[in-house]
Amino acid sequence: MKSLPERIILIGFMGSGKSSVGRILANKLGYELVDTDALLEERAGAPIPRIFREQGEPAFRALESEVLAAVAGRRRSVIATGGGAPAHPPNRHFFTRGDSVFHLRVSLRAARERTGENADRPLLAQDPEAVRRLYQGRQSVYEELGQSVDTDGKTPDAVADEIMRLLRSPRKNHPPGEIA
Ligand code: S3P
Repeated sequence: MKSLPERIILIGFMGSGKSSVGRILANKLGYELVDTDALLEERAGAPIPRIFREQGEPAFRALESEVLAAVAGRRRSVIATGGGAPAHPPNRHFFTRGDSVFHLRVSLRAARERTGENADRPLLAQDPEAVRRLYQGRQSVYEELGQSVDTDGKTPDAVADEIMRLLRSPRKNHPPGEIA
């Protein structure tokens, strides 16, 4: 019998693979996948780019904080969060409550390759220098809040396996919850 945390939280920059790794990891563990961006869009009744365009980033961040609060009590869940959520100070407590937090580390080059010209991410539509600053400014937050797992050159399945391995090795910050 190994113990697993009730909530496994994935953080990382856009394109780090949080949603795809989260889906695979949830499957492997028999957990539910909670994708906070998808929940936010459902609640708002609008896609993220439209929320940014019509209401601005502060309104988006307020919605994001509401969604995090709403899922904070979920059990047996893998929670894939938006790339900016850990960097927004009012959300900090969500990431420091003792749940298992994993940082999917991605180089900016790989993140750019994975996201391509994806118009679903308004913050990537800025000029490349602004994106680089955003990326650099967030790395220390991700490193501080999560246990880092490298993702460059790895499939989502391999990253999920790496997280499984880390979950099974005894570490601090894993409050017990019994699993088979
Ligand atoms: C954002 C990341 C996006 C989404 C929104 C803002 C960010 O999520 O929440 O576009 O600030 O980095 P992903 O990291 O899932 O792309």
